[in-house]
Amino acid sequence: MTASVAIGFQSVTDEYNDHRPPVEGTVPSWLSGTLIRNGPGRFAVGGRRVSHWFDGLAMLRRYAFDEGEVRYSNRFLRTEAFADAQSGTLTGQFATDTRGWRRILDSLRSLGLPEPTDNTNVHVAKLDDTFVALTEAPRRVAFDPVTLETTGEFRFDDDLPEQLTAAHLVADPHRTETVGFTTEFGIRPQYHVYRVPDGSRQRECLASIPARGPAYIHDCSVTADHVLLVESPLTLSVWRALNPFSQGAIDLLDWNPDQQTRLLVIDRDTGDLVADPTFEATFCFHHINAFVDGDEIVLDLIEFPDGEIVDSLSLSALEAGGFSTVPPGRLMRYRIDPTANRVDRTQLFAGGMELPRVVSEKTGRRHRYAYGQATDRDGANGLAKVDCEAGTSLEWFEQSVYVEEPIPIQRPGASAEDDGVVLATAIDVEQARSLLLVFDAETLSLLARVVLPHTEPFGFHGRFFESIPQ
Ligand SMILES: [Fe+2]
Repeated sequence: MTASVAIGFQSVTDEYNDHRPPVEGTVPSWLSGTLIRNGPGRFAVGGRRVSHWFDGLAMLRRYAFDEGEVRYSNRFLRTEAFADAQSGTLTGQFATDTRGWRRILDSLRSLGLPEPTDNTNVHVAKLDDTFVALTEAPRRVAFDPVTLETTGEFRFDDDLPEQLTAAHLVADPHRTETVGFTTEFGIRPQYHVYRVPDGSRQRECLASIPARGPAYIHDCSVTADHVLLVESPLTLSVWRALNPFSQGAIDLLDWNPDQQTRLLVIDRDTGDLVADPTFEATFCFHHINAFVDGDEIVLDLIEFPDGEIVDSLSLSALEAGGFSTVPPGRLMRYRIDPTANRVDRTQLFAGGMELPRVVSEKTGRRHRYAYGQATDRDGANGLAKVDCEAGTSLEWFEQSVYVEEPIPIQRPGASAEDDGVVLATAIDVEQARSLLLVFDAETLSLLARVVLPHTEPFGFHGRFFESIPQ
């Protein structure tokens, strides 16, 4: 592995509780709340290593802000996967032949019920006033947002079919509900799009859409009136699960370049499929946001020309070339005309970008600014801010600093969308330390640099919660 990046894929075993790290600079005193991030914390047990970044053992990270002070905690989820690791067995799910995805494969072979992994290392959400860690296997793990202690398995109170499920859920502050989807395998595979009202753990199925493949879909977005899914021709060959040499989900993925990408636009009230335009083969991990613009619907997302990105994030590929061999994502604006059932696609930012976010208040509403990793720097991941209306951008980068997912937070009471801060964890690979960076959201000037007590492995996603007690 490229020596500099390798530090981000090394296991940690220590756990901190309310550690007060030194703060260089000033964290704004108005910033009150808690950023909780999820991601892998451990990749190896007893000399054996998982084969994909997505398979590391789930570890929560907590960054609490109060009156300009920061407190840091990290804690592994106490799951079956964690217990397996303690006893010397790794439980992968995505590309590692162990009990996670292997269980799904085994159950498909026996046509029994799947028993997927509980290594929920991808994202976090708040459902039924419970904080929940999520992955794409249909199990969820509840945790205490203050202590990060695992409090048990979270189960929805419904029977929505799901062999795969979205770890990315859209929390819509305008409708006080969360939107997500599941994928059902079988003879007639389907995507089930659902809403779950705040304070409930019962999912209401909005629409069941016949699936092609089904495709591997990682994320979705909403407007005030729609739910949008992008069905790429990266499909899950369920029959390949019958091959006894299948190692996990990654072995089920088929890139079909001759097939088209299909954009699914679903009416959020009636569940009707209001548009399903198709275009050339592309792949998308992450949506940015969507909104209604007159008679049209706008969807911003990060697009890849093919499904190669999934393989490029295996530990062996990262070992061979670090992030330099990971294909750059393109920030695209899709403008959909539902009457003509067509979509126009425009690139908004020339550089590579991933892990994009807008402020939560703009969810499903017209946004102007998108923040994300600038991924095409040599020896660093920058932070990019793109003005999606003006077509201009700002970037911050520092040699050897790899910025993770940036999270923009609007100052309470602010009118300007970019009146606030951007929080981003990062690894300084030269200094061999993890950082929490606080930027001015308007200028991307660095307001504070917080040095964490150990080097966290590269993580995935997080959310900022204003309501967690300090
Ligand atoms: Fe993701």
